[in-house]
Amino acid sequence: DKGGFRHFMAKEIAEQPAVLADAIAHYLPDGLHLPLDFSDVDRLTLVACGTAHYACHVAKYWFEQIARLPVEIDIASEFRYRDPVLSPRQWAVFVSQSGETADTLAALRHASGKVGKTVAVVNVATSSIARDVDVALPILAGVEVGVASTKAFSCQLMVLLVMALKAAHDRGVLDDAALAAHLADIRALPGLMNQAMTVAQPVAALADDLAEAQDILFLGRGPIYPLALEGALKLKELSYIHAEGYASGELKHGPIALIDAHVPVIVLAPRDALFEKTVSNMQEVMARHGRVLLISDERGIREAGADCWRTIRMPEVPALLAPLLYAIPAQLLAYHTAIAKGTDVDQPRNLAKSVTVE
Ligand code: M6R
Repeated sequence: DKGGFRHFMAKEIAEQPAVLADAIAHYLPDGLHLPLDFSDVDRLTLVACGTAHYACHVAKYWFEQIARLPVEIDIASEFRYRDPVLSPRQWAVFVSQSGETADTLAALRHASGKVGKTVAVVNVATSSIARDVDVALPILAGVEVGVASTKAFSCQLMVLLVMALKAAHDRGVLDDAALAAHLADIRALPGLMNQAMTVAQPVAALADDLAEAQDILFLGRGPIYPLALEGALKLKELSYIHAEGYASGELKHGPIALIDAHVPVIVLAPRDALFEKTVSNMQEVMARHGRVLLISDERGIREAGADCWRTIRMPEVPALLAPLLYAIPAQLLAYHTAIAKGTDVDQPRNLAKSVTVE
């Protein structure tokens, strides 16, 4: 049932404030409730495919910045073949919407018995991955039908963020007051997500122009860099337009050669500690006549939006939560561009919702 929406994907994007509120009620009923104690763990390895892998990539920034806990991230299809160094002082976390992705399940089997604990961050509670780990943490996104993962991504991020905060507190690097302040910010997130849904209109107005592009670049820095990768993946899988995500600072090491007046460059730039750096990378693009779409908040656009091709205004958000909020424009850009191109949004060619073959 599409609930009055034209596509499951549109419905699932719109559901994000509500399902995140469910996840918040589950993990933060009052304080922080998570059945894991990070006091004695030295390192985490986060393993997943596709969009779930990008959630892990964001989480690496969170665990390292907030909890000072070293994190490795792996694409599940690479993990077991590179014969990773695993030890009982380390935990392995497997992130999967379906819980049936063959590569992720094989990675779990490879790690079982070699690490101190296996953990799943999973949507389907009865899935193989949920059953085979020591601890399964539900993301509570509800059934996701669209092949493009949307609400599962934001709920994966939510659970990973809660884990990072718990790790920080257990390891003594985040005191009670700082933890309480983060939890208050998280509780306000569904309201911000609702506000961010209003970008659907300006995004839809851009879609015809984006649909004509041959190549599109997404740029971001810090924990927003994986969002650039996710924005590019969504756009590729739904609109079949070639898209790539880059860490903005990496542009001058090669990809800047691609820039001309025909390549839209989408800059995801919440006003965080790296905003000025992102803006200077964006100016390098504009100096080469790149067509920049800047996505930032009101002040960010006022400070840096003047010569951009287009701008999209987001609500202001605490830096920690920006990856969750900026998922919305990334998803909507892919959705509306796919509609402008006339592709099958919910069932893109060559793709399956759950990839159960290696
Ligand atoms: O069910 P999983 O989360 O394990 O699936 C992983 C990927 O196959 C999945 O996220 C895929 O990249 C999506 N189609 C992206 O929108």
